[in-house]
Amino acid sequence: MHALGLKCIGCHTTYPLFPLYECEKCRGILDVYYDFEKPRESDIFLPITGEKRISLGEGNTSLLQSRNLAKRLGLKNLFLKCEFTNPTGSFKDRPVSIGISKAVEFGFTKVIAASSGNGAASVAAYAAHAGLEAIILVPEKTPIEKIKQTLAYGANVIRVKGPYSNCFTLAKQVGEKQNIFNLTTTFLNPYTVEGNKMVAYELFEQLNSSIPDVIYVPIGAGPLLAGIYKGYLELKHRHHFGKLPRMAGIQAEGNNPIASAFLYGKSSVSPVANPCTIAGGIADGLMGYEKDGMYTLQCINESKGFALDVSDSSMLEAQMWLARDEGIFVEPSAAASIAGVAKSLQENRIREDDYIVVLLTGHGLKDMGNVPVACEVPMIEYIDQLFELLRK
Ligand SMILES: Cc1ncc(COP(=O)(O)O)c(C=O)c1O
Ligand SMILES: [Zn+2]
Repeated sequence: MHALGLKCIGCHTTYPLFPLYECEKCRGILDVYYDFEKPRESDIFLPITGEKRISLGEGNTSLLQSRNLAKRLGLKNLFLKCEFTNPTGSFKDRPVSIGISKAVEFGFTKVIAASSGNGAASVAAYAAHAGLEAIILVPEKTPIEKIKQTLAYGANVIRVKGPYSNCFTLAKQVGEKQNIFNLTTTFLNPYTVEGNKMVAYELFEQLNSSIPDVIYVPIGAGPLLAGIYKGYLELKHRHHFGKLPRMAGIQAEGNNPIASAFLYGKSSVSPVANPCTIAGGIADGLMGYEKDGMYTLQCINESKGFALDVSDSSMLEAQMWLARDEGIFVEPSAAASIAGVAKSLQENRIREDDYIVVLLTGHGLKDMGNVPVACEVPMIEYIDQLFELLRK
C-alpha cells in the first residue's frame, strides 16, 4: 500500500494516517499521499492492505459500449460504466468499503454518515457486514426506497428537516462530540475518497490502456470525480502516458454551485441554501463546506474539462433513453450524466468522434417516484380479452 500519511491540499501540512477530517492549521481537505518510489506488491494505491479490506464484492463493474444511445446522440464511441451494479446499487460501495475497513482498523464500533440515500444504504450494508453499529442522517425528502433499503440492513436511520447540508453539519458535530467514525462520503473522510480511484484503474484495464477523451460524472460535492482524476494522475505517474481525460462534472439546474462557478469563470463556489431538483443524489448545496466544491472545480479546470447543469426534465428524458435504447435503468441523478452529454454536444464542448465514458452511478429501483411512465396497465381474465388487447 505504501500510504505515507494525510496531506492538506491547501497548506500541505502532513499528518499520520489517523481518523482526521480536516487540516488542523487551515481546515483544508486532507488527502492520502503515497510513496511512489517504493516497489509495490500491486499497482494500486490504497490506504488499506488486502487482508484488512471489508468487502461485499464491490467494483469490477462492467463497461458497456453503447450502440443505440450513441447513435441517438450522434456519438461514435460512447462507453457506459455501470456503477449501479455494485452490491447496494450505487458507486458508493467503493468509498464505503475503504472507509469501513479503516473504521475497523482504528477500532471503532460505531459509524455515522450524512447521506442523500445511496451512501446511507452502503454504509448500513458494510457496517452490518463488519458488525458495526450505523447511525444515518438523511434529508427529509429522501426517496422511500433508499430509506427502506437502509433500514433493512439494520441501521439507525434519522430524517433531518431541510436539505442535505443540514445532515452533513449534524453528523459532523455528533461524530466529533461522541467520537464516532464519520463515513460521510464527501471529502470529509479522507479514506473514502480513495475508493473512487478504483474506477480509473478499472477503466485503464477495460480500455486496454487507452485514455478516454472525456469522463462524465454527476456531482454533488464531487469526490467521485476527484477520485477518478486522482486515479488517472497515479496511473500517469506509473505508466508515463501524456494525456489525461477531461473531467466533466454534471449538476442539476436547481442545485448548481460548481457548474455556475465554472460557467462564470470563478474559482470560488457559492453554496445553494435550498436545492430544488428531483435528483436527490446530486442535491448537495455545499452549505458550510464550499471548499469541497472548490476542490472539485480545481480538478475539473486542471483536467481542461468543464461543468454544466441540466434540467430535471432532461434527466428524465435521458433516464428513458437509457432504459429503452440500452436496457439500463438508472435513477435521475445518474441519468444526469447522459443529459450532460447531450447538452455538451449541443454546446460543442465535445466532438462526435471523442472517446466518452459516462458514469452511471445509481440504480433506477432506488428512486421510483418520478419515473416517467404511465402506470395504467390493463388487467384481463380471459384469453379473448388478451386477443382483443393485442389486436389494438
Ligand atoms: C446516484 C448518485 N450520483 C452521483 C452522486 C454524486 O456523487 P459525489 O458525492 O461524488 O459528488 C451521488 C451522491 O450521493 C449519487 O447518489
Ligand atoms: Zn492546511
